[in-house]
Amino acid sequence: MDVQTAKVTATGTNADTGYDSFKLGGFEFSRDEYFAHIKWPKGTHIIEIDRFLRAMVRDIGWGFFYGWIFFDDIFGTTNHYGTVDIFAGAYDESYKKQGIDHLETFPAEVVKEAFETISRNWINEGYDPLRAPLETGTPIGSKAKESTAPLVRGFTPATRMLGLEGDVPVRSDKTGHPINRAFEDLEFDTPDIECEPGFEGQLHAFNLFDHIARSDVTWNPSITAVTRANICCVTSEEHMLPVIHGNDRNEWFIQLTDEIHWKIADKNSGEPRGRIVMKSGDVCAMPADIRHQGFSPKRCMLMVMENGTPGLEKRYASGELKPYPVNFDE
Ligand code: PHB
Ligand code: FE
Repeated sequence: MDVQTAKVTATGTNADTGYDSFKLGGFEFSRDEYFAHIKWPKGTHIIEIDRFLRAMVRDIGWGFFYGWIFFDDIFGTTNHYGTVDIFAGAYDESYKKQGIDHLETFPAEVVKEAFETISRNWINEGYDPLRAPLETGTPIGSKAKESTAPLVRGFTPATRMLGLEGDVPVRSDKTGHPINRAFEDLEFDTPDIECEPGFEGQLHAFNLFDHIARSDVTWNPSITAVTRANICCVTSEEHMLPVIHGNDRNEWFIQLTDEIHWKIADKNSGEPRGRIVMKSGDVCAMPADIRHQGFSPKRCMLMVMENGTPGLEKRYASGELKPYPVNFDE
């Protein structure tokens, strides 16, 4: 796999809209009032700007996540944990058949810098792609005042556990996170902590629902607890996951409140594999060979369990591990 050495460069400013265009390797990126335009040596693509920016800032914040991030059916990234592919049509049968697909590999840092540079230039004040559409302004229109708000947030992982002394704080009024409008009807009891002498400061508990109810971002799993490679993330979801995630390992979902509708397709071909409606209390394992996208009609709470074992993606890719976690035939 050839790794590109080129970095992102600005290639000019559009006189009508005020936005800059950019080049990274063989990919060119530009935007107008409504759309992002992507070009590569044998093709072009167009993505609605809201979708593009919501996908791009999450891809940065997630550190390119596990496996594939499709911004839509055609364009996206693949994480190789150190390097990242940017692809167009590389997982679409007809693009491949026509020979107009394209894929380039870059150091992860280079893609991060490129995506940050593009997002910064294309995001105006009043629009926050991490918020639910009902809770932010619109990204459409010409360049106005560039937003100076942090591009990504809410990802800071807990070292041991949220709220322990010296660790990431639990969200509260004090941290500037009011209860979201959707969760105002919930009761938020605080747990009693009764500690044996000698263990003060080591035993801890908090109301996780209270913490999630105060999230001001959506589709943005943040690490609340880590036990070796077992990573427990929680997130509040509303509207649609602005990417289609292609798994490179199993993922477990626990639906904590309300419901999410998942569209599930074959990872490589995009052929439909299933629909799942997860309701409060449902648990679901997403296999390692699928791509999926969630739709949440109302804001809800989701727990995502990831297996962070290094090299796991290679063991699934080689077929050493079955793509699903349980075999009911054996
Ligand atoms: C996923 O693709 O598994 C995923 C991504 C973001 C979320 C939840 C699930 O908020
Ligand atoms: Fe996923």
